[in-house]
Amino acid sequence: MIRTVFWENDSVRMIDQKALPGAEKIITYKDYRKVAGAIRDLTVRGAPAIGVAAALGIALGTLRSPAPDRRRLRADFNRICREFAGTRPTARNLFWAIERMKRRFADLLGDKGLDLEAVRWGLVEEAIRIGEEDIEANRRMGAYGKGFVPEGGGVLTHCNAGALATAGYGTALGVLRAAWADGKRFHVFVDETRPVLQGARLTCWELVKEKIPATLITDSMAGALMAQGRINAVFVGADRIAANGDTANKIGTYSLAVLARAHKIPFYVAAPLSTVDLSLLSGKDIPIEMRHASEVTGFAKARTAPEGIGVFNPAFDVTPSRYISAIITDRGVAKKPFSRSLPRLVNLTGLPG
Ligand code: MRU
Repeated sequence: MIRTVFWENDSVRMIDQKALPGAEKIITYKDYRKVAGAIRDLTVRGAPAIGVAAALGIALGTLRSPAPDRRRLRADFNRICREFAGTRPTARNLFWAIERMKRRFADLLGDKGLDLEAVRWGLVEEAIRIGEEDIEANRRMGAYGKGFVPEGGGVLTHCNAGALATAGYGTALGVLRAAWADGKRFHVFVDETRPVLQGARLTCWELVKEKIPATLITDSMAGALMAQGRINAVFVGADRIAANGDTANKIGTYSLAVLARAHKIPFYVAAPLSTVDLSLLSGKDIPIEMRHASEVTGFAKARTAPEGIGVFNPAFDVTPSRYISAIITDRGVAKKPFSRSLPRLVNLTGLPG
């Protein structure tokens, strides 16, 4: 199994996603600031994986804090949480994980029977649990979603919503994995996903490893394939889902959803409930990260655009819920109207939205 980000020997360890597919390197972090840096520079990426990395990083920072009393440990913990909250703005799972770590810290600190060491290790246990639960959530999503994968057909996916984007197994790719393990046979088309190439570098790496037949295309080829009748369903992940089902995901997802509608192809989003943000009524309030121009002006370190050109480089776009056929979550499948089905699923689990 691919382990994306995990705790080992009192350190945070993660696979270096910037080095894939050329090299499989595991990086070991003993300093929480470096974990925050790894989120910022995309060494670890994908909404659930970012959440798990932040939880482990918060635990690491608090474990190594020299604070001699409860008051100073709380100050250190809050400072570390703020640092992680500032890494990337769009993925809901990051803020969900920070909030969960804050609740656990308050409980541990409030227990006067625990000394500071026990409080620190209690946080490590919570962060490890968040990672384990993420893998379980992905497996449940696979079980709920595999029925939507068309037997003998073609499916299209965008970005990387696989094991690498989570603690393991994956969301949209987890659904395809579950269908494949069940004996369904289909062909996966993978959008290369400009500008950072998560599809070409990461999704293709996972599919080749798994021996699931797949074909890489550039993003602009999806419409032609759909027109030829070679795509029977689209599966994507999500970075944040508003209460009405509007979904932020990797830039280019919206165009795919519109294309899918024009060709009457079902369009599925797979995401755990930790990606759902019920505090936002619609997608227009989802903060969209803008990334550096250099991602667009060049390709594989070679400059392709002239100096002086302006660049538009949002990392994500928002797909209006009317284009989404269903949202596959870890607690069941949400159908339209999402403004009713999503809160029902969140409330069923008692999870804070
Ligand atoms: O910029 P990234 O690589 O972090 O963007 C990731 C995506 O957009 C994924 O599709 C999303 O996080 C879902 S992953 C399970």
